[in-house]
Amino acid sequence: MVTGGRNYFCEMKKSVLFVCLGNICRSPMAAAIFNHQIAKMGLDSAFFADSCGTGDYHIGQGADSRTLAAAEKQGVAITHTVRQLQADDFENFDHILVMDQQNYRNTLRVADAHHHPKVELIRTYDPDGGIEVPDPYYGTPQDFDETFLILNRSIQRFISFRLT
Ligand code: 4NP
Repeated sequence: MVTGGRNYFCEMKKSVLFVCLGNICRSPMAAAIFNHQIAKMGLDSAFFADSCGTGDYHIGQGADSRTLAAAEKQGVAITHTVRQLQADDFENFDHILVMDQQNYRNTLRVADAHHHPKVELIRTYDPDGGIEVPDPYYGTPQDFDETFLILNRSIQRFISFRLT
């Protein structure tokens, strides 16, 4: 079954997959921010975004309520069902942006070597610098607000560097 990315219905779209550990905090927020920014630019018909986790802890659940709240405060809606990273993702997606070094290593482990160049740490694009998007899962609502800001500016720069 084709579950996302470059599928039969969107072959011409550029596709981006956001990856974290649980797929309830950082990566669903990132995919929603990406879709929001792309829609604001009037480019939503040209791109497809999805998210997933390297872990299987929360498969089938929705996003964390603190993720939903932080995004809603910024006018970004999230509709999401957790899924785990799968081998097909490396065929289906053009860009795979991961949140931290552990996700990076775990993602590469699932991918054939020729797909490795499409896997990048998302903060490579953060204009303010930084390496990882800290995991807010054990943190405060303010940590989720900070996650939003990091992702928002990194995605904005990714879009302008890579996609437009
Ligand atoms: P995420 O955060 O990777 O940003 O979705 C986490 C969510 C859940 C867990 C860890 C991180 N967990 O251990 O259940």
